[in-house]
Amino acid sequence: MPGQAFEVPVVMVLAVSENGIIGRGDALPWDLPDDLRHFKRATMGCPVVMGRKTFDSVGRPLPGRTNLVLTRDRGWGAAGVESFVTVEAALKRAEAQSVIDGSPAICVVGGAEIYRLCLPFADRVLLTEVHGHVTGDTHFDLALLGDWQEVSRQRHEAGGKNSHDFSIVELARSGYSSPPGQQAGI
Ligand SMILES: NC(=O)c1ccc[n+]([C@@H]2O[C@H](COP(=O)([O-])OP(=O)(O)OC[C@H]3O[C@@H](n4cnc5c(N)ncnc54)[C@H](OP(=O)(O)O)[C@@H]3O)[C@@H](O)[C@H]2O)c1
Repeated sequence: MPGQAFEVPVVMVLAVSENGIIGRGDALPWDLPDDLRHFKRATMGCPVVMGRKTFDSVGRPLPGRTNLVLTRDRGWGAAGVESFVTVEAALKRAEAQSVIDGSPAICVVGGAEIYRLCLPFADRVLLTEVHGHVTGDTHFDLALLGDWQEVSRQRHEAGGKNSHDFSIVELARSGYSSPPGQQAGI
């Protein structure tokens, strides 16, 4: 069965609009500071695995997290991050760091290419459903999550600085059972 390949759960953290958009250019196509706070809480202390383009768009390592960047360019490097040319090597390194730190998850934080590569290894998905149709150029096919099971859902209304209603939905792979004592969420 896919997933459960590592000692530590692999959790994909992603935000997708109803029409499957996750990005526009090198940015997020919405303003959702409350979702960014959720992202920070969910990933803090965990190793984060990301693509080189997502790293470039953030422009710096995410503080308080071991930053692992996937690139095909063996010569690529940036201060405060480690780079990998295969997804398996990045996830193995993340697993080792999680065990050292006692962190509850390995977090895969995008973008689209890296979500596609990591989905077969994922045990859970923390999905932010952005309610609305959004213009953008980077897609995630929500049908890929069609047979995942919903574990929890929390709706947030637009307003203040949040441009859209959104829901944070935790999904578990169909047939996945949490190891004893492991909490929902991360
Ligand atoms: N909504 C969300 O939750 C969310 C989260 C993160 C990012 N985003 C958005 O997503 C967009 C970026 O996503 P993206 O799909 O264009 O790029 P990406 O997944 O961030 O990075 C792609 C890069 O990863 C490397 N890569 C891809 N496959 C690889 C493999 N098999 N082995 C080794 N390295 C590999 C390559 O780097 P090299 O070119 O260096 O070889 C490739 O160019 C941006 O718009 C960003 O804002 C959205």
